Amino acid sequence: KIPVIIDTDPGIDDAMMLTLAFASECLAVQLVTTSSGNISQDKTNYNARAFLSYIGAQVEVARGLEHPMFKTLTVAEDVHGETGFGQTIFPTPQLPCSERPAVQAMVDVIQKSEVPITIIATGPLTNVAALLFAHPEVKSNIKQISWMGGAAVGGNMSPTTEFNAYVDPHAAAFVFQSGVPITMSPLDVTHKAYITLEEAQAIKALNSPFANKIYEMLTFYLGMMKKTPFHADNYDRTMRFHDLCAVSCLITPELFKGADYFVTVETTGEYTAGTTVVDYEKRSHHMPNAHVLYQVNRVGFVQQFIDAVHIISER
Ligand code: BDR
Ligand code: CA
Repeated sequence: KIPVIIDTDPGIDDAMMLTLAFASECLAVQLVTTSSGNISQDKTNYNARAFLSYIGAQVEVARGLEHPMFKTLTVAEDVHGETGFGQTIFPTPQLPCSERPAVQAMVDVIQKSEVPITIIATGPLTNVAALLFAHPEVKSNIKQISWMGGAAVGGNMSPTTEFNAYVDPHAAAFVFQSGVPITMSPLDVTHKAYITLEEAQAIKALNSPFANKIYEMLTFYLGMMKKTPFHADNYDRTMRFHDLCAVSCLITPELFKGADYFVTVETTGEYTAGTTVVDYEKRSHHMPNAHVLYQVNRVGFVQQFIDAVHIISER
């Protein structure tokens, strides 16, 4: 099993990502930490504990930092709703919030691990950057960071900027120059990793309380997508499973295509702060620092998620 720490800001697609991570036989989730992003830290931490309690996960959930390094927090309540889970309600969490703050919990787990740990990050990189800044000694026991964020081309916050990178560009810049191997799932791949409303009927058909909640969140998210008509033709009929890619590429790398590039993050551009600058034409002469995914076998990916909802429903 691959030992992992998950840093997340649930968030509808973050909940989908947790579904796959906890259904998978290939991962051993050692710790979940919450980042501020889609919604405030209070809400992401509550949501992570509520969702994980609901699916019966036994895992430590630690509270992350409140604010990005140098910017004020931008949230995405327009996409995920005020609570972060659309209109879907989960019972009050059974899982407590850890007494250790996220960075301390990460350090302890990484140092204790006999094999190098993989960090899955599906929100702004504030906690991960703080970890690497304050405790560079743990780098040697981190196998890689699998991050959903950034874009080689385009954006969803500005013409060139993806949300997770936009919220904390300084953190992203710090992580990309840290020397820790990175697998990046940018919008270039996550926009191809969608489920159609027709395919989602297979989730509805499972007809378990859990599957019904997933379907409800999915259709809420899809409703919000209709407000962004400048995207691809089918944008209003499909849900992008952005965060799921950061897990799926670890357990089924054969579903993805990517290549190694040098990536930097713009922190100060008047129009481009948060832009991940992917040197895909190899013009900078820097050694690659990230494996950047750009293609996914969508049918296999969707089936994997449906199977995960089924597995959790049966527990
Ligand atoms: C990312 O932004 C968030 O809204 C999603 O959870 C995902 O992590 C996509 O740009
Ligand atoms: Ca997220």
